[in-house]
Amino acid sequence: MQKNCFITFEGMDGAGKSTQISRTAEWLRARGHVVLLTREPGGTPLGEALRALLLHEVMHPDTEAMLMFAARREHLAQVIEPALARGEWVLCDRFTDASFAYQGGGRGLDSARLEVLETWVQRGLQPDLTLLFDLPCEIAARRLAASGGDPDRFEREQSDFFNRVRTAYLARARADARRVQVLDAAQSPDEVYKRLEEILSTYCS
Ligand code: TYD
Repeated sequence: MQKNCFITFEGMDGAGKSTQISRTAEWLRARGHVVLLTREPGGTPLGEALRALLLHEVMHPDTEAMLMFAARREHLAQVIEPALARGEWVLCDRFTDASFAYQGGGRGLDSARLEVLETWVQRGLQPDLTLLFDLPCEIAARRLAASGGDPDRFEREQSDFFNRVRTAYLARARADARRVQVLDAAQSPDEVYKRLEEILSTYCS
């Protein structure tokens, strides 16, 4: 049987990641794998406390980046690395590509600084597969508005911010094309899932 994998899900708010994460978990469980679902920022009690601060408190962009990576360090140590060591498949809703997209692209932080944090926190561990749900910012914004929730600090940003986030995500995908698979998230959820299933069949049989 294939080795268990660490799979991350990325994309802008409104890309429809949540539905596709649940479907991926079902797909893997149907094949007998043990699956752990988790998310960032968060995934541990401390990480969830940091998440509440990150989503709602105004802070310096450097502070934001360091708190994202602090939560990630805890998440790796307490949840992700132990689960992988137990042979489980780990599905994580956002990971370090989100920091390069939102803090790097969106907030304009120097990516060299983020790379230092990435090396410090991950010590060489990278996801085996990253699924990037890509779509034009206007469609993402329309979906978000239609969902009617109370927007957090990131969701309240303007279209320029999200255009930079999207560009940074796509640059990460180009730089690591073997790891990052880009899916067209402007399609219907069923069409997106069809493509997702093809990728899963290739990577995770
Ligand atoms: P998410 O859980 O996708 O939000 P929601 O529960 O509203 O779907 O992510 C929360 C926000 O955190 C999202 O707008 C992106 C942001 N984020 C970063 O800015 N950097 C990061 O490293 C991560 C993991 C998330």
